[in-house]
Amino acid sequence: MIETMKIEFAALAALPPQTPPQDSPGPGGKAAAARTLVIFMGKDFVFGAATLHLIGDQGAALVKKAAAAVKFKGKALTALDLIAPAGLAAERLLVIGTGGEDLEGKTKKDMPPQPDDYASLGGFVMGKLGKAACATIAFDPPRPPVDPAGAAADFALGMRLRDYRFDRYKTKKKDKDEDAAAKGRADIIIAVDKPAAVRNKVKRGEAVSAGVFTARSLVNEPANILYPEEFADRALALKKHGVEVTVLDLAAMRELGMGALLGVGQGSVRESRIVIMRWRGGKGAKAKSKPIAFVGKGVCFDTGGISIKPAAGMEDMKGDMAGAACVVGLMQALAERKANVDVVGAIGLTENMPGPDAQRPGDIVTSMSGQTIEVINTDAEGRLVLADVLWYVQDKFKPQFIVDLATLTGAILVALGQEHAGLFTNNDELGERLIAAGKVTGEKLWRMPLGPVYDKMIDSKFADMKNTGGRHAGSVTAAQFLQRFVNGTPWAHLDIAGTGMGSPASETNQSWGSGFGVRLLDRLVADHYEG
Ligand code: BES
Ligand code: MN
Ligand code: ZN
Repeated sequence: MIETMKIEFAALAALPPQTPPQDSPGPGGKAAAARTLVIFMGKDFVFGAATLHLIGDQGAALVKKAAAAVKFKGKALTALDLIAPAGLAAERLLVIGTGGEDLEGKTKKDMPPQPDDYASLGGFVMGKLGKAACATIAFDPPRPPVDPAGAAADFALGMRLRDYRFDRYKTKKKDKDEDAAAKGRADIIIAVDKPAAVRNKVKRGEAVSAGVFTARSLVNEPANILYPEEFADRALALKKHGVEVTVLDLAAMRELGMGALLGVGQGSVRESRIVIMRWRGGKGAKAKSKPIAFVGKGVCFDTGGISIKPAAGMEDMKGDMAGAACVVGLMQALAERKANVDVVGAIGLTENMPGPDAQRPGDIVTSMSGQTIEVINTDAEGRLVLADVLWYVQDKFKPQFIVDLATLTGAILVALGQEHAGLFTNNDELGERLIAAGKVTGEKLWRMPLGPVYDKMIDSKFADMKNTGGRHAGSVTAAQFLQRFVNGTPWAHLDIAGTGMGSPASETNQSWGSGFGVRLLDRLVADHYEG
């Protein structure tokens, strides 16, 4: 697993004179990397007071001159890369634009920058630093954040998230990167007003980024390596963080009557698994209340089964376990930051393959709930997996609420693209809390409808329901199917087919597997279900 980068915090006031770059040889006998000083500049050459003090009038004049030459105006998320002026204990001076024009304009006057803005800013700086990440950052935005410590912590989180890479299978590139990591990445100093206040908050960001990294790596792993049993083993590794982990094998699932999930996996030589994770972090009254629950679709590879998918792009279906990956990453984040909450994470792990034992279109299976399902299309397998896991979690844990995450339908990409995940819920309050958490973390959700007319579309001639509802409203009928396995529990379903994998690179994510949902749900828990 990838270690999260070490970031130190220092006091802005203690910056001048700066710590000079070390002359001693770094690991591998090479000289330490040259140091970069990062400063912020708002629109119209506005610097924070500490920054001005640091670079002096001369430095400021120099930056202005260089900026004019290349028409750098300090717009948000732009950079001016300079050789450091004489007198600064740095080789490179990186001036980062923080904008302010749209936030300070008349209409948005009272709007504070969103926390995610600082994470994006951190990601942007990390991207500019690149491999030579031996840097001191004067965290002194010209327009002071509402919560300076929180902003600095978010900034550090953004730097970490940007730093993630998945190069396990790059045999040639690897050595170089490890060298860079050992030498440069361990040497980032963020100078802030009150370092102690930030250090407290930053623990949480470290836990969250570790969880995001776990989720991303699980999604990025190929399916020949990460099949259900291997996935379960990786979830078992959470034990070292104090998470209770139990694995249900085929015999246990048969005993429970999970015909829907088992039908999906029967065409594969790899055995299906369910993993139940529990973090009992609740103290006092929290220890006695009912747990909250998260459920993830973990189809380690989705060929479509007998209703096989076309070849083009099928390799992406190694990511059809992004929901399960998110649940594992979330449990890790909550455990690592010792969240004051009792939470269950449950994932259904299987592989959807064609073969002599595979389930056929027209087959009728009996789910754990007792309801029967006619399998019209074996490629609509995610809902079959979730049907049994959702039922099991309600039956066994009687949770306060369930949020499930699934790369469930291609139709959600048609509806929302890669900007928003689809949100379906039977509970307005839970829905609103999720949407709010999405806005703060940048993992955005858009609410989609549910209703009896859509529900009728999955009635079957031969069984209680069928697993597809026809061409129209594909994401809604899929959610409607799931709702038939929700027994009055407040529930939300997130269709992350467009956001969990292959999402466009952003300031905080350059990875194919995005880890979508970890930050979102960590935020949900922190804002409403702890302390
Ligand atoms: N895993 C797919 C959905 C998917 C598509 C995820 C694209 C990520 C990117 C799901 O199992 C599936 O195949 N859904 C079908 C349902 C249909 C057969 C009713 C789909 O969306 O086409
Ligand atoms: Mn499918
Ligand atoms: Zn699928």
